[in-house]
Amino acid sequence: MALKDVFLQLSENRALNKAAQKYGLRLGAQNVVAGTTVDEVMSTIHTLNAQGIACTVDNLGEFVFEKEQAIAAKQQILAVIERIHTEQADAHISLKPSQLGQDIDEEFCYENLYDIVARAHEYDIFVNFDMENYARLASSFRLVTRLGEHFDNVGTVIQAYFLEAMDNIEQYKHLRLRIVKGAYKESPEVAYTSKQDIDANYIKLIEYHLLHGKFTSIATHDHHVIEHVKRFVAEHQIPYDKFEFQMLYGFRKDLQLALVREGYQFCTYLPFGEDWYGYFMRRLAERPQNVTLVTKQIFTK
Ligand code: FDA
Repeated sequence: MALKDVFLQLSENRALNKAAQKYGLRLGAQNVVAGTTVDEVMSTIHTLNAQGIACTVDNLGEFVFEKEQAIAAKQQILAVIERIHTEQADAHISLKPSQLGQDIDEEFCYENLYDIVARAHEYDIFVNFDMENYARLASSFRLVTRLGEHFDNVGTVIQAYFLEAMDNIEQYKHLRLRIVKGAYKESPEVAYTSKQDIDANYIKLIEYHLLHGKFTSIATHDHHVIEHVKRFVAEHQIPYDKFEFQMLYGFRKDLQLALVREGYQFCTYLPFGEDWYGYFMRRLAERPQNVTLVTKQIFTK
């Protein structure tokens, strides 16, 4: 089995997830997760804002099968929204519908999302719905569509590995969209599986949304893609306020700062919370070289 698949399987292991929560940030996760509390994440936001970097804040949480868990997650996200507003931070929210009860009952999830988006709307704070695996895709798009009918501060993610991604982008181009390659393990019936095909579709989607969409977040650590986008926006005279680059917290910090220096809008995806395990395992799956994040921690103690 490929290392990638091992980490993806580990990311879905509920027993390990539970065990990891007991011990706080470990194994190098502290390099890519901005703490476990709202105070800690706010402190990191202010540090990054001072460097010219905006933030999208993700309250980590997986395996939500009880309504109480979803409501607790909602309260935590509302607390972050309050702090972003009162502290005038340059930050918005990223959330996963599954954390707000999508796997329990879509209507219950919708109500939780409504409360979050409505409060954020009062403060003019944007809310991005992250996209998860294919099994949740149609439901997530339904939720985005319904919330989008009430509020203009909602956007979502298009995953380039899905065969239907171009149709989705066409349908949702009126929204602010983050475009990514895709992080989950999917079947060839619904997704491209070769890196070449995914990368080619990724470029196609980015170009399409830059030309026809509302606002594009190009979320990648891939410098080939970033260089391509720089050339494309210059050739097509796309204004710098119509797009931004995004990367995950803790990855390619030099490149993040270089893009800021070059005058591009830049936003870091900032996960925080006790439920860091699955997020961290998916990052190891994406790029097994990230294992050095782990080994460095183990061997430099
Ligand atoms: P990829 O991993 O394909 O790497 C391409 C090349 O870039 C590598 O070969 C290497 O040369 C270089 N490179 C990559 N990482 C590097 C590093 N750390 N150091 C040096 N070089 C490096 N997915 C999802 O399914 N739903 C979602 O909602 C989101 N949201 C999201 C937000 C943000 C801000 C980001 C950055 C990513 C996501 N993703 C996501 C994850 C995304 O789908 C994808 O799995 C990862 O970003 C990995 O793909 P990349 O495009 O970064 O490059």
